[in-house]
Amino acid sequence: KEISALTKIVILACGTAYHAGLIAKYAIEEWAKISVDVELASEFRYRNPILDKNSLVIAISQSGETMDTLMALRHAKEFGCKVLSICNTNSSTIPRESDAVLYTHAGPEIAVASTKAFLTQVVAAYLIGLAIAQIRGALDEEQVANQYSQLQELPAKIEQILETVEPLRTLTREFTNSSSVLFLGRNVGYPVALEGALKLKELAYMHAEGFAGGELKHGPIALIDKGTPLIAIMPIDPLLNEKMNSNVQEVKARGANVIAIAPEGINVPGATHLIRIPETSPILLPILATIPLQVFAYEMAVTRGND
Ligand code: BG6
Repeated sequence: KEISALTKIVILACGTAYHAGLIAKYAIEEWAKISVDVELASEFRYRNPILDKNSLVIAISQSGETMDTLMALRHAKEFGCKVLSICNTNSSTIPRESDAVLYTHAGPEIAVASTKAFLTQVVAAYLIGLAIAQIRGALDEEQVANQYSQLQELPAKIEQILETVEPLRTLTREFTNSSSVLFLGRNVGYPVALEGALKLKELAYMHAEGFAGGELKHGPIALIDKGTPLIAIMPIDPLLNEKMNSNVQEVKARGANVIAIAPEGINVPGATHLIRIPETSPILLPILATIPLQVFAYEMAVTRGND
């Protein structure tokens, strides 16, 4: 009943969880046809947001203890809205203060960096998006069933990526001394680019930036020199793929060393290196495209001698 009355969704999170929130926005808006704002908890907690009892707040946190996210959640509750959290740590503060919780059950994150937790946060967001779409009648049963079956195929596809990842490890070592690594994505691939860059900062202590493909010409292109490593997350949608391929040509013309993460069947003529991932539905791509980026950051950290 409450979901039928919803007018908007606001997602609050920090760091990696914020990137999961950005992916959630693309998925929930696409499937459930409801407006979703995603906000950094550290910004939200200090401003006057527009919320009411028909807004749903979703707080995403691996630890369930991040102070900015907790304070943002308390701030949101002052407006009378319900809070649903997506959390990995049982009985932590954020789920305890939420009206409902979806636990991600990813197991403990041993190092600080959220990796498996990130992937499960995205899956949780997909499940919420499909549930809301179903309740609101925005997708028919067949469309929902199709997305569920694609979701169920993801674990096997992830195994497949992990089995074929060795050449990526070797390739990563070529870039150990690069001063910066750039990541480019479009649509759901854009938050994946942001996350790839964040993982590299957190693990390898390297300068890295993620950009949306369409923004390239509005400044970031100036950062590209001969040999600059640029990781392009290739979209599945034909129009976006064409746009991304022209971005790849632009950066290549300036000398970038382009590593393309491309689903099967997607050609990337401008790529210097091609990392193949299996096909899936366009919205689910982040789950598969993120894995090589996590491996890249891990390998880079180890090669650079970090703990
Ligand atoms: C930061 C961590 O301090 O907190 C990030 O370095 C993490 O890796 C962020 O994404 C948010 O943490 P949590 O536990 O709220 O998901």
